[in-house]
Amino acid sequence: MVLQIRFNCSGFNQKELNLPLIGHNHRSSTDSIINRLSSTYIDADRKLFISTDSYDVAAQKAKWYFRELEQIVHKSDFLQQLRIDLLQLNNRFTNKPGAVALSSLEAAEDIKATVDSWSFLKKLSADKKLKSYLNKSVTYIFMRDLGKDVNLPSVSKAIEETVDKLHVWISKNNAKSAHNNQESFSTSWLYQKAKQHGAESTFIWLMGKLAKVQKNLPNEIDQTNGMRKLVKIIAGVVMHQLIDMPKSTSPKRRKRLIEKAIKLGYYYGLTYPLVDDLQDSASALNCQEKDSFNQAIRNSLVSGKVVEFPEFSAKNQSRMRFIYRELGESFEYIRSAQSAQKAQQFFQQAFIFFEAQDIDRKRKLGEKNYSYEEIFIPLILKSAGCRLIARDMLETNDDNTFDRNTFCFGIYNQFNDDIKDIFDDIEEGNVTPYTFGLLNHAQDESLKIANSSTTNPYLIYWAVVYYLIYKVYQNNPRCKQLILERSINAHKSVFTNIGPSEYLSLKTKLLNTSDEPFDQMLHELVVQPNDVAWFDKLVSRHVAEHFDVNGQNKEHFKTKYQRIQAKVDEVIPLCSHPRLNTANLLDAANYSLTAGGKRIRSVIAYLMMDEFYQLPSESIKPVMQLLEYMHTASIIFDDKPSQDNADFRRGKPTLHKQVNCEATAELAGIFLMMRAVEVQTNIGTVDPKLVLQSLAYAANTTQAICEGQVMDLQSKKYALDMNQLERMTELKTGLAIEAAFMIPAILADENDIQKGHIKQFARHLGLAFQIKDDLLDHEGDLATLGKPSQQDCAVNKSSFVTCLGENKAREKLFEHYFKAYQLSAHFAVVKAGNEGEGEVKGFMQSLLDYVVYREN
Ligand code: IPE
Ligand code: IPE
Ligand code: MG
Ligand code: MG
Ligand code: MG
Repeated sequence: MVLQIRFNCSGFNQKELNLPLIGHNHRSSTDSIINRLSSTYIDADRKLFISTDSYDVAAQKAKWYFRELEQIVHKSDFLQQLRIDLLQLNNRFTNKPGAVALSSLEAAEDIKATVDSWSFLKKLSADKKLKSYLNKSVTYIFMRDLGKDVNLPSVSKAIEETVDKLHVWISKNNAKSAHNNQESFSTSWLYQKAKQHGAESTFIWLMGKLAKVQKNLPNEIDQTNGMRKLVKIIAGVVMHQLIDMPKSTSPKRRKRLIEKAIKLGYYYGLTYPLVDDLQDSASALNCQEKDSFNQAIRNSLVSGKVVEFPEFSAKNQSRMRFIYRELGESFEYIRSAQSAQKAQQFFQQAFIFFEAQDIDRKRKLGEKNYSYEEIFIPLILKSAGCRLIARDMLETNDDNTFDRNTFCFGIYNQFNDDIKDIFDDIEEGNVTPYTFGLLNHAQDESLKIANSSTTNPYLIYWAVVYYLIYKVYQNNPRCKQLILERSINAHKSVFTNIGPSEYLSLKTKLLNTSDEPFDQMLHELVVQPNDVAWFDKLVSRHVAEHFDVNGQNKEHFKTKYQRIQAKVDEVIPLCSHPRLNTANLLDAANYSLTAGGKRIRSVIAYLMMDEFYQLPSESIKPVMQLLEYMHTASIIFDDKPSQDNADFRRGKPTLHKQVNCEATAELAGIFLMMRAVEVQTNIGTVDPKLVLQSLAYAANTTQAICEGQVMDLQSKKYALDMNQLERMTELKTGLAIEAAFMIPAILADENDIQKGHIKQFARHLGLAFQIKDDLLDHEGDLATLGKPSQQDCAVNKSSFVTCLGENKAREKLFEHYFKAYQLSAHFAVVKAGNEGEGEVKGFMQSLLDYVVYREN
């Protein structure tokens, strides 16, 4: 077989690990891989993009590691040593009399919601524990994710700096009132950080991508977790890049490297929800679909080019097309963004990772004949693979310490996760060392396992701990402390999740080493309150919660929006008028009114009146009508030859085109404007004084819109500066959106302060809305928009895109988005008696997402 590339697991030094070079006398998976590839993907001379025996070579390394672990298990004193270490740790904890233990603080807070996380951090800060708490997690991340030797002075310095920055940020945020929407703070904070490096447009690109992925993830997979993993990978890759970037790096290079890290992180992280979770899901794809999807990915990896989109059932065809297209884009980006050698290295690692996942996934819990070695090999490879890959993608120096540390660390992490997930895994039939051990050998007195001298997966777990502490980190006290605390933490979460009696039973069946004093010592540490709480876990929960709440809000929003939209559609067709003799004008106006449209203004007004102010339902209908009549009139005029001269609107010919008469369109517009005034007289059950106020406000708004349109039309002749552009937008678009908020506020007799907040929110929303409209004009098409695109440029008009360029326009869009998001906090307090507290706020936040991510 021709193997083009020599296997080089990113500089992983075999000698350094004393890895014996084992001959290929085992069953090689290479042939079967080649056989599984259709001949189309192998060139005539059988050259492949990567070497397919790379999995076998990697498996040899994993085998060697497993043997090392077995040897430790057979060393009689390793548990004694670890018990002494645990004892020392215990002394550290108990040596601080009177202090409140973090774990109990964390448990007491039951940190699930973002707001609890912040109050927990606040308490830590008050107890002067915040710094050491942060330091622990940051050090752990440097050790685990970045594979650093945490004793090196340069590394300690970097840790210290990171801790300081986090400390400052948390303290600043802690000082804010709860009202000041902290959840949005993290995204806008990240945006600010990206901006400092000039990477804001890539950050915005990422936000768009994440929103799209979340929207398109099949329901059958765990959206929250998929998104969390994706974000974690991106953060990991960016962190690597930031830490490994010399201080002397020029700003230009810094920007380029960060932008690349964000993109690489996204494109690589995508494989978690879109490949792994999808394959893991029991119902998203059927077996045949899983197979062909798998095959397509394998073929692409091995051949170095994205292979054709495989066939899926009708149910999956379109959603899989999105997934496949996005993965294809990833493939191309990762390939082209790096040197040929790096790209090969990456795909080689990815292939190992993919094969390991696949082998692991195909194991059946019902089968009893696996050896532990067989179970462990893919597990070691997949758990290390993800971090090796993350580093492999970057332009950092090859570093053997990283490779060795990371290779050995992965399984430790995997183990900690598997302990926590043991019952879920059993339910889903996943083979992990624990589920396999629990189901097959727990009852076995001798705990002797076929084909292996290893007796108990739990002993292998502690052997990993021992190996890491003594071989990898050479008994470094800080590393030892962190690893042991992390282990205790993993046990603690099982203990809290399943409760004391279940835990005890699990302990008897599986989580015991048969070394009484050791088990006893560990148990004491697990059940007692101590300082094992981790910032990275808190952040991870926070990210998950963000996507969870966001996903729920979105679903909620979609349903609610459609429900209200249907109500609007019901009430806006115009009925006849006693003094109308022919139906011409009425039909013309109705043609435009019923042509479709998002109804965003009337939907907002409905929500404000119904939920936020709980105004009587009879008063809502006229307000919805008024807003849609005003708006439709404005676009009938806007489309006319004297203004934008557009042929299509809402997917249909514009009114003047349809009736082939400009005068009719003009008159229908005036007709609608006046109907808008008339319907306001139907606002019953509200103090007439307020109705008059609202009438004045609406009429005034229409006048201002006219002024905005004049500015817009004149702008053809000269480019506007930012102030003029914003002013024009506020007038032509912003005010109609503001009216959707303010008319309800006026009718509810809202106080001036709150009116001010709401107006501000509406202002940023309105600006965001028009900037998005300008961007869509630039990049959309007639079919999706329902109106012609590229109009602003064609007539040399001043829009955000023509004045600022696409990227800057997008930045402006997000600046308004963030500002509005922050202001959405003012919708949190609803009038007493309303059960849906916070619902209006959630709706407004989703509305913002909708506005900036909409496609028409
Ligand atoms: C279009 O408004 C005019 C602008 C203010 C940009 P919409 O985008 O709300 O139009 P419809 O009502 O959904 O068609
Ligand atoms: C229109 O702005 C604003 C009003 C209708 C008042 P645009 O001219 O950009 O709207 P579209 O793109 O035609 O919908
Ligand atoms: Mg216009
Ligand atoms: Mg227009
Ligand atoms: Mg436009």
